[in-house]
Amino acid sequence: MWTGWSGPGRLPDMEERGSTYMGAFADRILVLDFGSPSTQLVARRVRATNVYCEIFPCTASEEQIRAFEPRGLVLSGGPAPVSLPRPPVSADFLLSLGAPILALGQGFLHLLGRWGESSEDVQLGPAEIRRAQGELFSGVVEPFQAWTTGPRVADPAGFVPIAWTNDGPVAFAHRDHRVYGAFFHPESPRTEKGDVILDNFLSLCGVERSWTPAAFVARQVELIRQQVGDGKVICALSGGVDSAVTAAIIHRAVGDQLHCIFVDHGLLRKGEKEQVVRTFREVLGIPLEVVDAESRFLERLAGVTDPEQKRKIIGHEFIEVFEEAARGIGDVRFLGQGTIYPDVIESISLEGKPVKSHHNVGGLPERMNLELVEPLRELFKDEVRAVGRELGLPESQLNRQPFPGPGLAVRCLGEINRARLDTLREADAIVREEIEKAGLAGTIWQAFAILLPVRSTGSRGHDRSYEETCVVRAVQSEDAVTAEWSRLPHELLARISTRICDEVQGIGRVVYDITSKPPATIEWE
Ligand code: XMP
Repeated sequence: MWTGWSGPGRLPDMEERGSTYMGAFADRILVLDFGSPSTQLVARRVRATNVYCEIFPCTASEEQIRAFEPRGLVLSGGPAPVSLPRPPVSADFLLSLGAPILALGQGFLHLLGRWGESSEDVQLGPAEIRRAQGELFSGVVEPFQAWTTGPRVADPAGFVPIAWTNDGPVAFAHRDHRVYGAFFHPESPRTEKGDVILDNFLSLCGVERSWTPAAFVARQVELIRQQVGDGKVICALSGGVDSAVTAAIIHRAVGDQLHCIFVDHGLLRKGEKEQVVRTFREVLGIPLEVVDAESRFLERLAGVTDPEQKRKIIGHEFIEVFEEAARGIGDVRFLGQGTIYPDVIESISLEGKPVKSHHNVGGLPERMNLELVEPLRELFKDEVRAVGRELGLPESQLNRQPFPGPGLAVRCLGEINRARLDTLREADAIVREEIEKAGLAGTIWQAFAILLPVRSTGSRGHDRSYEETCVVRAVQSEDAVTAEWSRLPHELLARISTRICDEVQGIGRVVYDITSKPPATIEWE
């Protein structure tokens, strides 16, 4: 999540990215981030109405903003930022663009020349908007609940009030321009009819709703053909949604110039390899090379128990295997990679330092001198799924749970060997199967098993047993940044526990993880 900025930031590879959609989706909106935790939500809501938009931090320069040619701007701000310098773009400059502006919270204060103001007496949170008028509220019936923010200004110069709570005005319209300011968040799920309000604003911007999965695919196919020419592209499939959609769209563009590689490192879940192979070869008709590297990985991991070392070994080995496969193809110039928009926004650096570097195949592009092809760079996760659907990927593939690159290694605590992995695989399959059967798969972010090298006493038939422990973990989350442990029904937990103890060799006890993130992470290592 882009959680605000704290100094002069930079926009990464703007020149490279800036031209991507120029001309193709001319009706675009710019969301300028003035430090709101819900900036991504604003952008997702705008995209959901089939309007293309991008997020720039409010440290963007006037040239960068002008070059984007926005048809409308949302200044996304929350409560008062703590000791942040004034953003470099002036209110006069933003108004001079002539595009409608919807300014929220601190974004509005910046527009009023009152950046950084705060006051003690402001109530943040839910409030009832009792009266609202004008085109921004067209189709919205009062009263309605809104999630408000502050500090509020009662009489902004040049503006007239257009919505009121019992405490006074919370939204304003400029007397002369199509510029609106609000001290509530239309993007918040806690604001009733917030989507209608945002939609009204987009109508005021006069934008065409042309951002559709089909239009995106058509445009990307053109762009990939331009970039790749007659070169060969290699793509590592992880089994996940992003790499699958990346491969499918590149294949649509350049057909058999694409070479897909699936590395079976022996750390996959039950049935995973078979599912990926079936989806690609049979459903999509995309050739796929499966590299069986299980023995190699397990040999390198033998005796290793330190989580970081496990990850390093896996990452390193993956690169080796992938390089060998690439050499087998010969003359590969491009690497298809499933980077998506949240990865790009998250890696927007503060003072040039990456917040999070995202490489599914870390270090590969530089080492092999490959140029990246990243067709999903502009997409949010739900858009990736919509594009995948457009390309014919099956729902089972699109709705797959996130799964870490190092696979079961980070869920098999202690020493990794084939027997313990098999035990974990069986238990994990039961967890997923029972959750699916209970009809809860769609409501849970991730549900899986973890194997602990902790033995406890029990009985198997007439014999005493002394076997390892299986942890069941299920979490709800929006974006994996925070997560809440799932309150699974006791009957479901009972079924899972009974089946694991009955059906899986090597597990003598099942426990349920009731820790949220933070303080815990979702994975155990
Ligand atoms: P944590 O454990 O940090 O995980 O709360 C957050 C999300 O990221 C996934 N995860 C990974 N994904 N490579 C990945 O591609 C990794 O090394 C990795 N580690 C964690 C995790 O499954 C969860 O969805």
